[in-house]
Amino acid sequence: MNLVSRPIKFTILCLVLGVSKLAFSTELNPQFHELLENGLRSKGPVQLEFFLQLDPIQKFCSESSVDIQGDKASLLMSEARQQIQYPDDGDYVGDWREGEKIAQSGKGLRFNDSDDTKNGGNCYACHQIRKEELAYGTLGPSLYQYGKLRGYSKEILRYTWGKIFNPQAFLICSNMPRYGHKGILTMEQMRDLMGLLLDPESPVNE
Ligand code: HEC
Repeated sequence: MNLVSRPIKFTILCLVLGVSKLAFSTELNPQFHELLENGLRSKGPVQLEFFLQLDPIQKFCSESSVDIQGDKASLLMSEARQQIQYPDDGDYVGDWREGEKIAQSGKGLRFNDSDDTKNGGNCYACHQIRKEELAYGTLGPSLYQYGKLRGYSKEILRYTWGKIFNPQAFLICSNMPRYGHKGILTMEQMRDLMGLLLDPESPVNE
C-alpha cells in the first residue's frame, strides 16, 4: 500500500538532496534526474527543460563558480553568435511606434497567460528608453539616444540585432532575456524594437 503520495515523496527527496543541489548541480544523480523527468511536467512558460538545464549557457552560468573570461565562456559565446538569425533582407529597422508598445508590454510568459497571448519585451523593466517614460528599471544601461550616440552604421545595426536576439552571445551570463534565441519575440517585433532604438526619427534619438 502506498502511504506516502508521490508529491510528498518528491518534496522529501528535494529536502534530503538539498534544493541548491537540485537547482544548480550539473552532476545530478541519474536516478534523481529520472525522477525529475518522470515526476514533473512542463506547463505554460514553466518548462521542464529549464529545470534540467539542457541549455548549455544556462547550465554554465548556474555553476557555483563561473569563469566568464575563460575558454569555455568564449566557446559558448561564439557558438551562440553563430546561431543568431539575421533578417534575410537586411532590413533591420521597423516601426518605432510599434517598438515602443513592445518595449512597454510585460505581457506573455506569465503563468496565467493563455497560449495565444502575444509576448511583450518588457524592456522598460530594465532600461530607460524614451525620455517621456518615467517608470523604468535600471538593471540595464540607459538606451535613451541609443542611435544618436552609437550611429546608424551596418555594424551597429548588426550588433544591436544580435544583442536583442541573444545578449549572452556577447556577454555570457548577461541578465537580459534572449528574445530571439528563446523565441520570445518574433523577427517582426525585434525589427520594430530596432526602429525604436535606431530610427533617426524615433523620439529616442531626438
Ligand atoms: C531583465 C533586465 C533586462 C531586460 C528586460 C532587457 N534588458 Fe537589455 N540589457 C540588460 C542588461 C543588464 C544589459 C547590459 C549587459 C549586457 O550587455 O548584456 C543590457 C544591454 C542591452 C543592450 C546593449 C546596450 C549597449 O550599450 O551595448 C541593448 C541594445 C538592449 N539591452 C536592448 C534591450 C531591449 C530592446 C529590450 C527589450 C526587448 C531589453 N534590452 C530588455 C538587461 C535587460
